[in-house]
Amino acid sequence: MGRVVVGVAVSVAVVACIVAAGVVGRRVQNRGKWRRVVRVLKELEEDCETSVGRLKQVVDAMAVEMHAGLASEGGSKLKMLLTFVDNLPDGKEIGTHYALHLGGTNFRVLSIQLEGNRSSILEHDVERLPIPQHLMTSTGNDLFDFIASSLKEFIDKGNNSEVLRGGRRDLGFTFSFPTKQTSISSGVLIKWTKGFSIEDMVGRDVTECLQQALNRKGLNIRVTALINDTVGTLALGHYQDADTVAAVIIGTGTNACYLERTDAIIKCQGLHTTSGFMAINMEWGNFWSSHLPRTSYDIDLDFDSPNPNDQGFEKMISGMYLGDIVRRVILQMSRESDIFGSGSSRLSMAFVLTTPLMAEMHEDESPDLREVARILRDTLGILEVPLKARKLVVRICNTVTRRAARLVAAGILGILKKMGRDGTGGIAGVRSRSAVNMKRTVVAVEGGLYTNYTMFREFLLEALTEILGEDNAKHVILRVTEDGSGIGAALLAASHSSN
Ligand code: BGC
Repeated sequence: MGRVVVGVAVSVAVVACIVAAGVVGRRVQNRGKWRRVVRVLKELEEDCETSVGRLKQVVDAMAVEMHAGLASEGGSKLKMLLTFVDNLPDGKEIGTHYALHLGGTNFRVLSIQLEGNRSSILEHDVERLPIPQHLMTSTGNDLFDFIASSLKEFIDKGNNSEVLRGGRRDLGFTFSFPTKQTSISSGVLIKWTKGFSIEDMVGRDVTECLQQALNRKGLNIRVTALINDTVGTLALGHYQDADTVAAVIIGTGTNACYLERTDAIIKCQGLHTTSGFMAINMEWGNFWSSHLPRTSYDIDLDFDSPNPNDQGFEKMISGMYLGDIVRRVILQMSRESDIFGSGSSRLSMAFVLTTPLMAEMHEDESPDLREVARILRDTLGILEVPLKARKLVVRICNTVTRRAARLVAAGILGILKKMGRDGTGGIAGVRSRSAVNMKRTVVAVEGGLYTNYTMFREFLLEALTEILGEDNAKHVILRVTEDGSGIGAALLAASHSSN
């Protein structure tokens, strides 16, 4: 009997030991997998580091590249394109004018009525249409016929039937892709960005393509201004506040333009304008510098993109890409451990996690991060994510967005440095004529990342102050314009109208 008891006791002890070993083993395993994902996060945070010191190097690099791009054709990755906009609308414009804006996720058609008084754009009517996906890779004719038909429908709806019969109207075309302009109303497409790829358009005159499509639709409209979205934003910004000297777009893509003295545009020596300045379309999406904090995810994203080695700055900053960087980090974590379940196939789909969804996860304020869980489930097919893993996702979003916003701040200050408006008197050896004292300087801003994503905006403004110092930062005002890229085109069409 005694032996039996001892035997049972021994067996129980052995089972207990096995169970305990199992529990301990699982704990060790668990700890191991968390350690691995935390390492992935830490590496990401380190590689995305944007200390003020590093940002200042980016500021300097931007200003130096601007000089190089103005000095010679191909002198820099910054194209520094002439826009032939040497006079900004001043408020004296009158009449009804149209604009079309092609460039990002949506296509916009709009009309404005002006009555010769700066403060009053009488009416402004706008229609936003998603661009049918297949047109982004179709032919130039298909794309421009769609654009012309949309304008015709817009005009029909607005009862502006005189456009279809008599009274010719002017139109400003905002074409938000790198275009080499030969005048305010003509220019040749250099390359596509933001997922567009229509081979037969590259090298063609954009205005001519649009004008022909408008004629095919029987519209009595003349394209009098061809502009980049940054230039439209600058035009409206300046119309509303004369201290506006630059404009930045932070949306699906990113870019900036600013007012440059014509004598500084060395690659076009002898360029003469009555005003002595011209708006320069920097195409800063293609900016590159060894000081940019680049991660392995950026390298992979670039490699997989249709335009490798191109638009490097844009790929770290703009709405087209941020969500995909975050997806790539989550994918890496899911390869290192099973904290995101056994691997969802949707996680491997490029661009499935859009930047607006990423922003929702980042700004989820619910205690159990409900939105994060919902988006991971519905968009990435990842079910049952523990709270600890959801918190990691928020940190990834934070890191990627913070880097992007701080780089935009450095970019803006690079422009101000080039203009001698950053309080330091310009870059070494090229001291600007303007005083070291800061002048009130307004930068017009557009794009969903800045206007709809609070954390992005806060990170950007915080970095501006960190780099400039509080006193100088007070003189730099980022001012949101609404539909400036389109309205600005209509304003420029009006001011360049021959009527
Ligand atoms: C284009 C620019 C444009 C920017 C913002 C970039 O991809 O190259 O021309 O201004 O996007 O829309």
